[in-house]
Parts: sequence; structure tokens; C-alpha cells
Amino acid sequence: DDVVPFRGAVQAGIVTPVQDRMHFAAFDVTTDSREELVALLRKWTAMAERMTAGKQATEGGAVDAGEYRPPDDTGEALDLDACRLTLTIGFGPSLFVGADGKDRFGIAGLRPQRLTDLPKFTGDALDPARSGGDICIQACADDPQVAVHAIRNLARVGFGTVAVKWSQLGFGRTSSTSTSQSTPRNLFGFKDGTRNIKAEDPAAVSEFVWAAPIDDQAWMAGGSYLVARRIRMLIEPWDRTVLHEQERVIGRSKGSGAPLGGRDEFDPLELEAKGAGGKPVIDTDSHVRLASAEELGGIQILRRGYNFTDGSDGFGHLDAGLFFIAYCRDPQTQFVPMQQSLARNDALNEYIKHVGSAVFAVPPGVGDAGYWGSTLF
Ligand code: HEM
Repeated sequence: DDVVPFRGAVQAGIVTPVQDRMHFAAFDVTTDSREELVALLRKWTAMAERMTAGKQATEGGAVDAGEYRPPDDTGEALDLDACRLTLTIGFGPSLFVGADGKDRFGIAGLRPQRLTDLPKFTGDALDPARSGGDICIQACADDPQVAVHAIRNLARVGFGTVAVKWSQLGFGRTSSTSTSQSTPRNLFGFKDGTRNIKAEDPAAVSEFVWAAPIDDQAWMAGGSYLVARRIRMLIEPWDRTVLHEQERVIGRSKGSGAPLGGRDEFDPLELEAKGAGGKPVIDTDSHVRLASAEELGGIQILRRGYNFTDGSDGFGHLDAGLFFIAYCRDPQTQFVPMQQSLARNDALNEYIKHVGSAVFAVPPGVGDAGYWGSTLF
């Protein structure tokens, strides 16, 4: 079955087994009117419910709304199935309190404390034009045209209320969120997502992904927080690096994905193991060691990122990397300390650069009768 149910207690697109493609868009709200914003969220919800079911964006669709008006649906997904499309919405800190300190929509008092802009991390080279946003929509599907069609139609009806601030296309999921999926590879050629939180582990999901009623703001119960980082991967220097060094940097074997010192992909990380000369087998500055729950006082996150390649950068280098997406119950105590540790010490930093960043509160699912954000407004 290629339809992922849209309605539910939690939003689809988080623990849903990761689809192959993504189109992610961040919007700025261009109106000061709460009514207009709520009207758009209601309209978006109706369209999202239709499109995720494989239908056209609206009843009138691409060809049935009359010859003398622009079609209601842009049409490029007409002959395509739902392709497991999920649409997931999130609200940025600036929706609650604008840069000018204004509370445009009367929701400043409802901003979760854990929804604040991320601190600057060592080595950040953030482009403001690829960062932030009042609202985000993550579209994931197994067909890129279906994901792009969804974002395009939502952006189109938002004209006058929202404007796209930045967007990112992704391919080749870089994580698995279900034990039913095989582990894909990122653009450095390594299996990515081996030790990710999996939907089949409900204890980890409820501890590290879903916001609980007692956490912060009650309207966020059953929601989550999304951290997006556009991470440029310096492909050319990496490709000139010898295999031994690549594996030392990650802490795993490139072929099998096994941790260094282990044999199979899912073998445990032996962080205490010593090799020749008493040196740790998994190096002290390797990525998997520094990102591991063992080194971080038990912290975990749900990763759901995608590879991207946006052509070349004008110097003949691929503008490629990882569009990193993490879901967590509290970005301040999960993502932030993890990224602080990685930003300071990770051997991978020689080969990557964080160029975009955003954080969003992802509200709970729309239930039977709600609309996107109905617990907030
Ligand atoms: C693990 C690659 C950025 C968090 C891994 C693995 C690879 C990898 C190959 C091993 C397989 C696995 O268990 O998934 C990369 C690359 C990155 C990147 C190429 C940048 C381009 C990040 C960032 C974070 C992160 C920014 C979070 C702040 C993790 C975590 C693990 C992991 C939590 C699992 C560690 C464990 O418990 O074994 N990454 N990663 N990664 N990565 Fe990354």
C-alpha cells in the first residue's frame, strides 16, 4: 500500500519508514493577521490530506475547475500514485516572537521554552538565506515529483500569506527509521543510520522523540522538535583520503558498516577496546564515538536526513552534502550537547561544513477533526 495515513495522534513523516526523496521548505509568514494565518493552515490541512491520499490538491484539480481560470492543481502528479507521501509541518521560534520582538499572532506566551534558536557552534558557516523560517513543511515521498508537487501547490495557495524563504531537495535517504529497512549510504559512501532510533523501539521513541504533556507547553504533547542542518560535504578532499583514514574518521568499516573491531553492521561499539600500542580501536575523535549515547550521558536523537547535490559551486566543486534532519523531544538537551561535542572534536569536521540551520516545533497529529496547529491556535 502506498498511502501513509495523514490523520493520527502524531504527524506522519517522523517515525514513518523513511521514503527515498524529500522536498523541504521553510516559509516566512507575510501577514500580521491571525485569521489569515489560521485560514491558510486549515486550507493546507485539507490539501495535505488529499495529496497524501494520492488525490489532486483540491476538488477542482488540474482540469475540472473551468477553462478560464488558472488550474487549481498544477498537474504534474496527475498520473502518479501517493508514493507514500507524508507532509509534516513545524513552527519556528520567529512565528511566536518576531525579530522585532512583536507577537503578531498572539501566541508568544505559548512558545515552548525548548523552542529557541540554536546556539552558534564551533565552525558554523551559516548562510542566513538558508536558515530559520516561521513555518516549515517536510514533504517525503518515494517519487521526487510527488514531493515537489506537494510543496509547490501548498506554496502556491499560500501566496499573500506566506512566502518560501528557502527550500531543499534531497535524495537517497541517509537513515533508516525502521528495522524493516536496509541501511542506506551517505555521499561519503558509508552506511548511515545503523544505530538510529527505530520505530520498533517504542521505549526509545517515547523517551527521545515525542513531547509529553508535562514537558513544556501542553499543546505540544504528541509533537516533536525538528532540527535541520544543511551540511556541505567537501567531496573532493574526502575522495583523495585513503580508506584507512576514512574508516578511522567515521569509526566504522566502509564495506560492511561494522564498527571498527567488530564484524557485522549491528555489532555493538566496543568503545573500550584497545589495539596495537594500547590505542583505542575506535579513535577518540571518531564520529561514532563522539555521537554515541555512551559518550553523551545517554542522549539519543532520531535522524531522518537526505543526501543532496545542488550542482557545482562555481569553483568546480560539487555543492553536495547531507541535509541533516533530527527529531527530538528537547533540542536543547539532545541535539545541542551532541552537536557541541561533534563541533569541537569530530575528526569529520575536516571534511564537512554546516551552512544552514533551523529549528521548529512540530505539533501533534491532527486527530479526527483538527487542522495543522489546531492545538496552538
Ligand atoms: C552515526 C555520518 C553528521 C549524529 C553516523 C554514521 C555515519 C555518519 C556514517 C555511522 C552509522 C550510524 O550509526 O548511523 C555522518 C555524516 C555527517 C553526520 C557524513 C555530516 C555530513 C551528524 C550530525 C549529528 C550526527 C550533525 C548530530 C548532531 C550521529 C549519531 C550517530 C551517527 C547520533 C550514531 C552514533 C552511535 O551511537 O553509534 N553518522 N554524520 N551525525 N551520527 Fe552522523
